[in-house]
Amino acid sequence: MSHVLAISGSLRAASFNTQMLQGLQTLAPEGMHIELFKGLGELPHFNEDLEADPPATVHRMWQAIADADGLIVATPEYNGAMPGVLKNALDWASRPYGASTLPGHAAIVLSASPGIFGGIRAQSQLRELFALLNVYVVGGPQVAVPEVHTRLDHEAEPGERLNDPTTRAMLTSLLHGLAEAIDHQAGRRLIQPLHHWRSQLAS
Ligand SMILES: Cc1cc2nc3c(=O)[nH]c(=O)nc-3n(C[C@H](O)[C@H](O)[C@H](O)COP(=O)(O)O)c2cc1C
Repeated sequence: MSHVLAISGSLRAASFNTQMLQGLQTLAPEGMHIELFKGLGELPHFNEDLEADPPATVHRMWQAIADADGLIVATPEYNGAMPGVLKNALDWASRPYGASTLPGHAAIVLSASPGIFGGIRAQSQLRELFALLNVYVVGGPQVAVPEVHTRLDHEAEPGERLNDPTTRAMLTSLLHGLAEAIDHQAGRRLIQPLHHWRSQLAS
């Protein structure tokens, strides 16, 4: 049984990225439970002055990440980049310095856009950021969904909207990749060489 936290980089009520995440549970391998994180919009703008006593919303996200066996992040693309609200959340998640709950997790990332490039530039940034933060990201298949509005049944229930067979097949593969990464502790293995560095930080 694995517990996976899904984060959408969009606050929009009808977000395509959020709709994609809502559809993942039906594609997930047996034993994987996916929970959608809802607190992104309540996080304050990151400010180092707030770090000594961060608000409860920040603690909630830190704990939600700590409790998760794996992560899924779906990002829109704003002006060729990941949205500020997602970068802000990941900046918070990267703290406290040396004691962040993020490193050592396995993750998958995806992006979706009504445009023809599927938000691939934002997704690439997200991959780069996760490499920096010692999060193990499953390499492929790379899912950047173009013209996403044409791949959803807008009349269906929230968890059942994704009706494009190719996207469904790719997401299914990606979710199996995540399950294997969690089973093989790929994230933990990634940070093993960092234990010495961490102990130096703590001393
Ligand atoms: C400020 C802004 C900038 C955008 N820039 C891009 C972009 O660079 N590339 C792209 O594919 N779509 C861009 N879009 C369109 C978004 O992909 C579209 O609004 C999408 O629906 C947002 O994701 P969501 O549905 O998950 O909220 C932009 C939208 C906004 C509001």
